[in-house]
Amino acid sequence: MKIVAVISSSNYHGNSATLAREALKGAAEEGAQVTEIFLPKQKIEFCTGCLKCLARECPFSDDFTTIRQLVYEADGIILSSPTFAAAPNAIMKNFIDRLGMYERFTSSLGGKYMAGISTAGAMGAKQVATRLACMARDSIFKRGYLSGSLGVSIGAGRVMDNADQLLLARNLGRKITQDIKNHKKYLFQNLFGRLINYLFVKPNFYKVILKNRAGSMKAVYDNLSQRGLIS
Ligand SMILES: Cc1cc2nc3c(=O)[nH]c(=O)nc-3n(C[C@H](O)[C@H](O)[C@H](O)COP(=O)(O)O)c2cc1C
Repeated sequence: MKIVAVISSSNYHGNSATLAREALKGAAEEGAQVTEIFLPKQKIEFCTGCLKCLARECPFSDDFTTIRQLVYEADGIILSSPTFAAAPNAIMKNFIDRLGMYERFTSSLGGKYMAGISTAGAMGAKQVATRLACMARDSIFKRGYLSGSLGVSIGAGRVMDNADQLLLARNLGRKITQDIKNHKKYLFQNLFGRLINYLFVKPNFYKVILKNRAGSMKAVYDNLSQRGLIS
């Protein structure tokens, strides 16, 4: 069981990073092999939207290549970001952008368990944490699972001084690991979204990918075909 925590706050010892590390402690207690990815220390170019990742590969050769590999090899992913303007911060957003349309089209995070963590001064953290945790839940060809999320409003305090919040984070780390161990299927998760996906979204994507399998969608087609998700 491999779990990675992707941390996007520039504050190495800040609130959202502290909660993410606490979650990793919980995961390790359950027997997971844990890895921290501290995004601000990595060199990651901004996605330009060229979509070459769909046809061949991303033209950038930067630290993201290694990070993406770690994420793809993980069974569980914890995304941790501060709440900035009621959204994840730009560093997390760029990480998600770089996973990109390729991830969207191939559902490369399908089958993985996700958790989201965010902290805010006053409000918005719960929504941001949930949105991060939902990243793979809505995948088109293979769904991922939402193990849980933790959004904390810190007010004037700091999470490192709050034993309750640290415990919530540790329990989230334990939970995502237990889900992996138990192959939890969350049968009723996102039922309506899955129905819409099955009836409308997936058939359309399927057609577009097949039509362009030798050209603009070659990398996507090859990936899905190797995983037996398209024929
Ligand atoms: C640019 C910026 C935008 C922010 N936007 C919000 C916000 O929309 N809502 C809120 O409650 N707090 C907001 N905050 C406060 C941070 O979310 C809060 O300080 C957070 O805990 C920082 O996390 P960190 O310690 O992990 O860096 C903002 C802070 C900054 C610097």
